[in-house]
Amino acid sequence: MDNRFFGTPTRELVEQKERERSGWNPVTYVSEAIEALKAGLADDRVVLGLSGGVDSSVSAVLLHRAIGANLHCIFVDTGLMRKNEYEEVLESYKGMGLNVTGVRAGDKFLGDLAGVADPEAKRKIIGRDFIEVFDAEAQKLHDIKWLAQGTIFPDISESFAAGKDGVAVKSHHNVGGLPEKMNLRIVEPLRMLFKDEVRRVGRELGMSPALLGRHPFPGPGLGIRCLGEVTPEKIAILQEADKIFIDALRAEGLYDKVWQAGVMLLPVRSVGVHEGARTYEYAVALRVVNSVDAMAAQPVKLPWEFLTKVADDIIRGVVGVNRVAYDVSAKPPATIEWE
Ligand code: XMP
Repeated sequence: MDNRFFGTPTRELVEQKERERSGWNPVTYVSEAIEALKAGLADDRVVLGLSGGVDSSVSAVLLHRAIGANLHCIFVDTGLMRKNEYEEVLESYKGMGLNVTGVRAGDKFLGDLAGVADPEAKRKIIGRDFIEVFDAEAQKLHDIKWLAQGTIFPDISESFAAGKDGVAVKSHHNVGGLPEKMNLRIVEPLRMLFKDEVRRVGRELGMSPALLGRHPFPGPGLGIRCLGEVTPEKIAILQEADKIFIDALRAEGLYDKVWQAGVMLLPVRSVGVHEGARTYEYAVALRVVNSVDAMAAQPVKLPWEFLTKVADDIIRGVVGVNRVAYDVSAKPPATIEWE
């Protein structure tokens, strides 16, 4: 079996990548990957978790080209996604011919998050719930032999760079106990690729530029952009503010010029005035960064007129927000997400 896609990653794989980087091209990669995946998977059935992000989507389309209907995708609505994201992304997956089961689980996530303010505790709940929902759905599929993951090369090389031997950290963290429970083997169609190469493979596969150009978005979603306790009301406020901001970035041609953008809902309220009356509402912070690999990031100097217009649109358009701040912190020492 081709070690670029199957089996435990080794240090030799990292060295192999370094040798291959200069001569790499997406046309050859796609045809070799499809052949290797066909040969390695034969008539076996494969399950894959879609997140709406670039890596899992490109993995799915590549596998679909190789094994067609034997690929089963699961897409979980955590209730912590951007406004309308679940519906829109599910439609686009179906439009690509993928065999996708969508699972609406927002009530479970929001119910389990009720009353929890600590960021690490929130992350653990979201991770655990995701595994439970994905597991339950995957167990309904019969005769699955493989779990496909959207691991990319930096996930593997970082685990070796950190001095850990053997298995890459990410192989098993995406979907918890599933490989052991269902006795699944792991296939990682993109594990030899950098992010830019993943996008080039996606283009070669005919995927839409809108999907391939999406900003990174954290797995725990708006759960870590809503500081303090997460409630359905706060998520709804955040979704509205985020939509105004992201739509404005797109309308001004700024979306594709920055690496990542989003809105944080702060756990503080402040005084304002609206139509002559006193208000006491939430503050949000806009965060826009440029980065290469997310290890370091610089705040982006957006035009002042643009920022003040967005602030005005959010305060006028979103009930519950009366103040907008702009985050000018670099990473390090600040992280991209506020948590
Ligand atoms: P931080 O906040 O650590 O984020 O500077 C770095 C990048 O990683 C994204 N991020 C995540 N992505 N699962 C993900 O798939 C996660 O749990 C997660 N946490 C942070 C973040 O959006 C940024 O792009």
